[in-house]
Amino acid sequence: MNWTEPTTLTVTCGRGCTGALRRELAALGHPEARDFTPTALGIEGDLREALKLNLWLRTANRVLFEVAAFRARTPDELYAAATGLPWEEWIAPGSPFHLHGDAEAPGLRDPRFALLRCKDAIADRFVRKTGARPDSQSNPEGAACIALHWRDGVARMHLDTSGVPLSRRGYRLRPWIAPLRENLAAAILLESGWDPAEEAFAGPMCGSGTLAIEAAWFALRRAPGLHREHYAFQHLRDWPAADWRGLLEAARRRCLPMPAVPIHASDLDPRAVEIARDNADRAGVARWIRFAAADFRRAPLPAAPAFIAMNPEYGERMGLEEKLAPLYAAIGDDLKRRCAGMRAAIFTGNPDLAKRIGLRPSRRIPMWNGPIECRLLLYDLYAGTRDPRLLRKHAAP
Ligand SMILES: C[S@@+](CC[C@H](N)C(=O)[O-])C[C@H]1O[C@@H](n2cnc3c(N)ncnc32)[C@H](O)[C@@H]1O
Repeated sequence: MNWTEPTTLTVTCGRGCTGALRRELAALGHPEARDFTPTALGIEGDLREALKLNLWLRTANRVLFEVAAFRARTPDELYAAATGLPWEEWIAPGSPFHLHGDAEAPGLRDPRFALLRCKDAIADRFVRKTGARPDSQSNPEGAACIALHWRDGVARMHLDTSGVPLSRRGYRLRPWIAPLRENLAAAILLESGWDPAEEAFAGPMCGSGTLAIEAAWFALRRAPGLHREHYAFQHLRDWPAADWRGLLEAARRRCLPMPAVPIHASDLDPRAVEIARDNADRAGVARWIRFAAADFRRAPLPAAPAFIAMNPEYGERMGLEEKLAPLYAAIGDDLKRRCAGMRAAIFTGNPDLAKRIGLRPSRRIPMWNGPIECRLLLYDLYAGTRDPRLLRKHAAP
């Protein structure tokens, strides 16, 4: 298989994160990214490019390598076209495969039926060409991954080069309440415009530590993929392993020896702090994060210029909202009292609670936490002047 042939690469992310993803793609040499859906952007590239995106993208879920697009009106037409594709040339011999995707067609009551027909097509093709039927499995771990998107009479088939979503970095093994997905935490940092060369970072409601750990990776210029060992592209036939080793080596060389700014993480609950430290240790950044168990009002903060990021609970359960209102009011008071000359980001899914903060955000960015529409609220906390350049200059310790 000639993997140097360019095709469409579809890069998926969480809803509300395409802005951050677009900026990442531009920084990686793709200013031309096109909007495909509210959760996907498209660029042109070959498999080596897909490998690079898997290694470097902080906000993406998957990188899909398109192998075919064809018209199909019925599941039988889908089967006929899919069985004509040279799967045995793309997937490594003996590898199991995993198929996922979505399908919408007139008369199709259950999209799983389309996926089943497509799975049969791939397996039957292998039998016809190699004499052996590959195992298909329901999870992406350890398998070649294929994605089907069938809509408006057009089916697109992709090799999913990521497999297990890139959001699962692998450092967060111990659970804590309402953790942010790792790539959502990274999108929050990118959308906020946090500058890891200039602004210290503090996460005073750190929970399992996701924001602080992503901040540390960002500050170290550490590629998120350096932490991960398995990708679905490793199950493609003759995948460019030497190129991958080169990309890993270059990414290791780009890592800074230490962050340029202090990174703080704290939580009221000492158990959360212990879990966050443990996760940071697995991510290789525990030594760069100053942990503390403290109420956010007493949490140690770095000197300005600094960026404070918080994801307080927002309580979907009845009654919880009233309980949380004083917490949000206290966040606003504390930002005013202790954080003059800094910037802050609050990520919340409850607009009424957000109003209790009592400060005017400079930006409100819609971002979804799974199915929940949330807002990333950004605040410039002025210290007597509204000119941020002057603030920077005068706020240094
Ligand atoms: C929604 S969780 C944060 C989850 C975190 N973003 C993550 O990815 O794991 C909210 C956190 O705020 C903490 N918290 C609640 N009240 C607090 C307070 N007064 N001071 C500091 N932390 C507090 C909770 O213990 C909890 O860990």
